[in-house]
Amino acid sequence: MTNVLKFDVLFLFSAIFIQGIFGLKNVKLTIEPSIVQRFNQSVLHCSYDLEKDILYSVKWYRGRFEFYRYTPSEYPSIKTFALKGINVDEKKSNSTQVVLKDIDFSISGNFSCEVTTDAPFSTGFDRKTMIVIQLPEFPPTISVEGEPLDYLDTLKANCSSSPSKPKASLTFILNNVTIAKQESIRSNKFNEMPSWSDLNVNMLLSQEHFDGGRLILRCIAEIGDLYHEEAVLKLRSVREPVPERVSAYSIAPNCRSSHPALKLSILISTMSIFSYKLFK
Ligand SMILES: *[C@@H]1O[C@H](CO)[C@@H](O)[C@H](O)[C@H]1NC(C)=O
Ligand SMILES: *[C@@H]1O[C@H](CO)[C@@H](O)[C@H](O)[C@H]1NC(C)=O
Ligand SMILES: *[C@@H]1O[C@H](CO)[C@@H](O)[C@H](O)[C@H]1NC(C)=O
Ligand SMILES: *[C@@H]1O[C@H](CO)[C@@H](O)[C@H](O)[C@H]1NC(C)=O
Ligand SMILES: *[C@@H]1O[C@H](CO)[C@@H](O)[C@H](O)[C@H]1NC(C)=O
Repeated sequence: MTNVLKFDVLFLFSAIFIQGIFGLKNVKLTIEPSIVQRFNQSVLHCSYDLEKDILYSVKWYRGRFEFYRYTPSEYPSIKTFALKGINVDEKKSNSTQVVLKDIDFSISGNFSCEVTTDAPFSTGFDRKTMIVIQLPEFPPTISVEGEPLDYLDTLKANCSSSPSKPKASLTFILNNVTIAKQESIRSNKFNEMPSWSDLNVNMLLSQEHFDGGRLILRCIAEIGDLYHEEAVLKLRSVREPVPERVSAYSIAPNCRSSHPALKLSILISTMSIFSYKLFK
């Protein structure tokens, strides 16, 4: 009973002490963006409400290590502490924000800001996570073997997406039907370097795969909501109706990738000639 009471009193006391019902409130860290492209910059903003208190310091940490401190009563009021991988843009940093530039993979992790007031002393802090990524430099590419294709041929195709971190997920879609998919395995290893993504498909074709004789193969590369690119390839098919063959050949050869205008022109030209059917 007394122990519980002691604990409660202690808890109440420390809650007042830390949260400062007398003053300092609402210490809030925002990281914008919190998912950062490698070598880009990010703004870490620490907002706080001093009420009537006097600010003593704002300290910034990556993990447990301090890298920036603002102490208005001292000279100089700003101190930076060398921390591997952390490059503070001092011109853009002040009492409420720190700008990190040339961000590299190694600094993915937790950041926190800690605000301390003087007379009465109180302190508050907030913590957020930053993730450093690298998007693929190029859209995905498709390569195919054994064209032109017929019923009972095997479609052998590869799709490949240039190095990224995390790896891109790949999906093969033939005439609007998903035929292969590879989810990228989420890795929490911050030291892992960007890597290629590859997806192979080896599939026996039957009549139902041919949409009015045509075979349009798409490969979609995705990284969460951050990245979505696709390659579209019109495969050569011996089942292609004759009039379409002319327009198909004028577009399709060596179409290996997905320039947006090219994608559109393929879609428009194919859609204007045929009407798509979904076979289920
Ligand atoms: C990285 O910076 C470039 C240009 O500065 C910008 O276009 C891009 O959106 C940024 N990407 C991310 C993920 O922050
Ligand atoms: C800190 O810098 C940012 C951007 O330069 C500015 O918007 C903000 O008002 C500054 N804050 C203070 C307290 O000077
Ligand atoms: C980051 O903070 C969270 C709690 O907010 C903790 O669970 C996690 O282990 C921390 N990550 C690292 C790398 O320290
Ligand atoms: C697909 O990749 C495999 C190796 O992963 C290779 O042996 C094969 O020749 C490739 N096929 C095509 C059509 O590029
Ligand atoms: C694929 O199917 C969707 C509906 O599921 C349809 O809206 C779209 O037009 C189709 N695309 C093509 C290229 O046939």
